[in-house]
Amino acid sequence: MASRVQGVVARGKGAPVSVETIIVPDPGPGEATVTIQACGVCHTDLHYREGGINDDFPFLLGHEAAGIVDAVGPGVTEVAPGDYVVLNWRAVCGQCRACLRGRPQYCFATHNAKQKMTLVDGTVLSPALGIGAFVEKTLVAAGQCTKVDPAAEAAVAGLLGCGVMAGIGAAINTGNVQRDDTVAVIGCGGVGNAAIAGAALVGARRIIAVDIDDRKLEWARGFGATHTVNSSTTDAVEAIQAATDGVGADVVIDAVGRPETWKQAFYGRDLAGTVVLVGVPNPSMMLELPLIDVFGRGGSLKSSWYGDCLPSRDFPHLVELYLQGRLPLDRFVSERIAITDVEAAFEKMHHGDVLRSVVVF
Ligand SMILES: NC(=O)c1ccc[n+]([C@@H]2O[C@H](COP(=O)([O-])OP(=O)(O)OC[C@H]3O[C@@H](n4cnc5c(N)ncnc54)[C@H](O)[C@@H]3O)[C@@H](O)[C@H]2O)c1
Ligand SMILES: [Zn+2]
Ligand SMILES: [Zn+2]
Repeated sequence: MASRVQGVVARGKGAPVSVETIIVPDPGPGEATVTIQACGVCHTDLHYREGGINDDFPFLLGHEAAGIVDAVGPGVTEVAPGDYVVLNWRAVCGQCRACLRGRPQYCFATHNAKQKMTLVDGTVLSPALGIGAFVEKTLVAAGQCTKVDPAAEAAVAGLLGCGVMAGIGAAINTGNVQRDDTVAVIGCGGVGNAAIAGAALVGARRIIAVDIDDRKLEWARGFGATHTVNSSTTDAVEAIQAATDGVGADVVIDAVGRPETWKQAFYGRDLAGTVVLVGVPNPSMMLELPLIDVFGRGGSLKSSWYGDCLPSRDFPHLVELYLQGRLPLDRFVSERIAITDVEAAFEKMHHGDVLRSVVVF
């Protein structure tokens, strides 16, 4: 029988979110229902609410979550009721052109639940990133459940489901940061600080944190930044160059996603270096720059979707490093909140008061 649970819904562009009753169908073939224990508030949830992703309102928000598999549908073998899982938005299909070429981290046909969750009046909900996890129980494709060590508490482990994985992966997968590299990270929210933690994990030589908020820079030091730059008072490009013997960083990660920050990344990088765009721009943003500079500066200009992660490979591994004390994932949790506090959490995010507010159930 379908379940009735409470969840956080964005009904229209810019309108405050509300807690509503959600109808969750029993899992069908290839699907699972998951009792959510914790779900982080990501900037992407705010992008959805602001209409910056698409217009498919109403959205069931939330997508950085961990919980316990409640039930599975016919044919599901990869998880079973009782399994502790982190939800992912990259359930790889194994059959698309990316998967067939051995690049499942780019899978172009990822799986989501086929059935729809709805409001009580039958209105179909669009789950954020095909998950929708600010809710007591959610419905996903079974492949969206990645088993991890239950010793890592849900508020911490769940963050690997999106922003923290995106940041770590932007550095170590997309940026391919190596131990003798210099790295700059622009924007030190949850994603940017995770990129800093990732760069530190693989032994980057210098890590320059750039933000417009001194509190974020303070936190960045805690994740491994060796230099900090407040770009509201200092020129970011000059400061990155000054911290890298005048040449620019080998890898610059833009974890903001605006034309001005991307240009700082582009010009703050050494010749033949790498720019990684992990922040998500709005559809209206345009970029203009001399093509000769694109050619003349060489190197590679990349985007990082979900940190080019493979959940089945990366989540259990990163949880293990956390449990060994080698990756401070718990430091991303700024506060634990109730499901009724998501709108207030957006406000705190907007004011830079938190790295991650995490809804706990
Ligand atoms: N690519 C992906 O797969 C992926 C996954 C998750 C999130 N994201 C995106 O990453 C971005 C960051 O997410 P977050 O959750 O860390 O957000 P956040 O709000 O926690 O952090 C953003 C940070 O950028 C700083 N900032 C804002 N404007 C700046 C500027 N002009 N120069 C320097 N710093 C500036 C803010 O002070 C803040 O510290 C968002 O765009 C989000 O949608 C991308
Ligand atoms: Zn695929
Ligand atoms: Zn996210």
